[in-house]
Amino acid sequence: MPALATTPADATPVLALDRVTKTFPGVTALDEVKLGLYPGEVTALVGENGAGKSTVVKILTGIYQPDGGEIRIDGEATRFPTPRDATAAGITAIHQETVLFDELSVAENIFLGHAPRRTFGLIDWTVMETRAREILESIGAKLDPRTKLRELGIASKHLVAIARALSVDARVVIMDEPTAALSHTEIHELYELVEKLKAQGKAILFISHKFDEIFRIADHYTVFRDGQFVGEGHVSEIDEAALVTMMVGRDVSAVFPDREARIGEEVLRVTDYAHPTEFADINFDLHQGEILGFYGLVGAGRSEVMQALFGITKPSAGQIHIDGQPVTLNSPADAIAAGLVYVPEDRGKQGAITALPIFQNVTLPSLGRTSRGGFLRMAREFDLAREYTRRLDLRAASLDTELGTLSGGNQQKVVIAKWLATQPKIIILDEPTKGIDIGSKAAVHAFMAELAAQGLAVIMVSSEIPEVLGMSDRVIVMREGRMAAELSGAKMTPETLVRHAAGI
Ligand SMILES: Nc1ncnc2c1ncn2[C@@H]1O[C@H](COP(=O)(O)OP(=O)(O)OP(=O)(O)O)[C@@H](O)[C@H]1O
Ligand SMILES: [Mg+2]
Repeated sequence: MPALATTPADATPVLALDRVTKTFPGVTALDEVKLGLYPGEVTALVGENGAGKSTVVKILTGIYQPDGGEIRIDGEATRFPTPRDATAAGITAIHQETVLFDELSVAENIFLGHAPRRTFGLIDWTVMETRAREILESIGAKLDPRTKLRELGIASKHLVAIARALSVDARVVIMDEPTAALSHTEIHELYELVEKLKAQGKAILFISHKFDEIFRIADHYTVFRDGQFVGEGHVSEIDEAALVTMMVGRDVSAVFPDREARIGEEVLRVTDYAHPTEFADINFDLHQGEILGFYGLVGAGRSEVMQALFGITKPSAGQIHIDGQPVTLNSPADAIAAGLVYVPEDRGKQGAITALPIFQNVTLPSLGRTSRGGFLRMAREFDLAREYTRRLDLRAASLDTELGTLSGGNQQKVVIAKWLATQPKIIILDEPTKGIDIGSKAAVHAFMAELAAQGLAVIMVSSEIPEVLGMSDRVIVMREGRMAAELSGAKMTPETLVRHAAGI
């Protein structure tokens, strides 16, 4: 292995934070933290949900102002009063939740605010589209710059966000959980992109909850816990267990709950289910106490099947039976009434209202259900949600906290708790631990196992092979809108999953 040219101790970082503090009402998000980024090197910032990682990103990009401490560029103290100032200083970021515009094209989203212009100030569409195409190609994204964003799926939108960050020529590139929404191939392209950026001498800040990728692409690590700096060093000089212990402050076992599934009565049967464009020939059943995994590459149609079951989109054919009775689910309200709920992957758009406090988000599903016991049920759901958020390891000052002010991972936990609190018969969890830190992940898995043991029927859509294999009693693999395989017992191995998903 080549020796590293610099160490955190002896080189001058391109960009550094020194004793930076940031407080919000009731929360110290950052407490005198330090961080250094070096040219041509990747620094991984790791920490639990709510540790302060995204807050650092927002300070480095001029979205938040620090309450104390210093930001330095090449050793000189500086300030970023606005995002524009951070961009001018050569800093660009792929945020955890990027704001893009559905009604604008891919190219317009990439260049919004810094479109190439002609002499008289008019936007130069030809140049803009050509450059957009070049950037998209450089990250392996096969997207037409003229497509309207609303026509794209979540993974493609994320690629547009990445292209947007790369459209400014920057010295520092920040990536806040860039692979969370991407498929295997796209993740691979992103790793190659990181290598390219390193070779160009850019300093990279990389935030991720996935340890395999931290060890694969990062040179340095910095660990935060509860808004405080706890350590830094070379990735080559630490192992995963030590890093996790630094992060969480205790040992965490990565083992999945040891469960003895007690499979009960059939609760759901889906027959010859099809959609005009997204999927066809879907046939499966689901029983009480069972966890049924849905594995596949992003775009295989898994979420589309689930959204149809929840009444969000309209199938073109097929039957659904719940408890042996034929049902028609034309809307989410129908599905909820029939005891089937869906926790979406894209919590920002479909799962929650960020401007409302946690407790109102939690009771949302029960509003509008106007049975006589509606009010009592709401009170009961609120109590359950309080209990469930605790079980899922939610870190929030109180249930009055506005959802949008929680860290990304903690928002995800609220959305899961909210739907579980409706006490459904069937719950569909779409990528349930995406964006959730390693310690809380174990809490989510243990809780899922416990609810299944109480008779809940669970469908878990997941792209993480260890999670699929560790949690499921049975797995359906989807490819290009169809079921490629149904696996159980000894047939559930990483190789068979990958083979069926890729069609080899
Ligand atoms: N605008 C805000 N108002 C109030 N509190 C905030 C705001 N932004 C962040 N916080 C709080 O600051 C703390 C750090 O949040 P941050 O988003 O930086 O965490 P994170 O490390 O990115 O977590 P995750 O892994 O879940 O994304 C959390 O307690 C969060 O609730
Ligand atoms: Mg974050």
